[in-house]
Amino acid sequence: MKEISYLYPGFKHVGYLPSVAFQRTVQRRTIVKLLKEQPCIKMLSIGCGYGEELNHCLMGLEGDGVIVSVMAVDVAAIRRDIFSQSFANQGNIRLSYEQLNLFNLYEAPGFGCFDIVQCGFVLHDVESNRKQLAFDIISKAVRPGGQVIISDIFVSDAAVQQCCLNVLYTQEVENIYGQFLYETQSAYTAGLLCEKDMNELLGNGQEPGLLRTSKDAISGNRDFFDSVAQTVSRMRYCNLDIDEVIYNPHCHNLAVLVSHRSLVNTDYAPLGI
Ligand SMILES: C[S@@+](CC[C@H](N)C(=O)[O-])C[C@H]1O[C@@H](n2cnc3c(N)ncnc32)[C@H](O)[C@@H]1O
Repeated sequence: MKEISYLYPGFKHVGYLPSVAFQRTVQRRTIVKLLKEQPCIKMLSIGCGYGEELNHCLMGLEGDGVIVSVMAVDVAAIRRDIFSQSFANQGNIRLSYEQLNLFNLYEAPGFGCFDIVQCGFVLHDVESNRKQLAFDIISKAVRPGGQVIISDIFVSDAAVQQCCLNVLYTQEVENIYGQFLYETQSAYTAGLLCEKDMNELLGNGQEPGLLRTSKDAISGNRDFFDSVAQTVSRMRYCNLDIDEVIYNPHCHNLAVLVSHRSLVNTDYAPLGI
């Protein structure tokens, strides 16, 4: 199945939105904590985009003996972008990149041996009937005891308990994108985003950009949001024990789920959650 990337140049500016920056800061904290226990780590970034998220997470982490080997994968061809990020040129970072669909992650060098796997704002794009498979593959990418961090957008339990595309679900999707649009405008007003960058991030409603994404998501053509509880059960089902769920203070529909792969491997049957 051919995967759609949806990545567009204006996405490079999304880190100026406080809600998105918070998601990245939480991930960075988790990585810092891990590096204190284990200064030399192998990390997998799934759906790395242009690399700003990794930059936020890894830039400046250069303590004694700290070495981070990063395997970044994305279905989009972003090799040149990721290697030109500042973190990529930091002395203690060993960066590799593969253009790879997460459903073919088994092909990634080091699959099954990573100490930490992170996946930010990717899984909501995976259709509901393939979501559990995606989690299953992600859980197997990390070594037993290794960490998996999921940073994403979620709707409430009430919104997913009814059939998809119900009124409540649609309202929540509208609110989520309303918040992103509000944050974009505020970043511009505060002088963090220049007009050109704001326009690139928003788009014109036809070309890729937040306005177009918002329209497509509200009409049900893309974005297949789960609730946090649904995600927790999907993760538990594939041997990921949840350590922490951190809700985003800027937008309650965003959260970071920190987990680790259980040391006891339980076999389980495929589940159609
Ligand atoms: C919204 S961007 C997030 C980028 C980055 N993680 C961040 O938070 O800044 C989603 C990224 O996931 C990638 N992606 C979407 N579906 C994918 C798949 N099935 N396998 C690998 N990458 C995928 C897209 O190409 C895009 O770069």
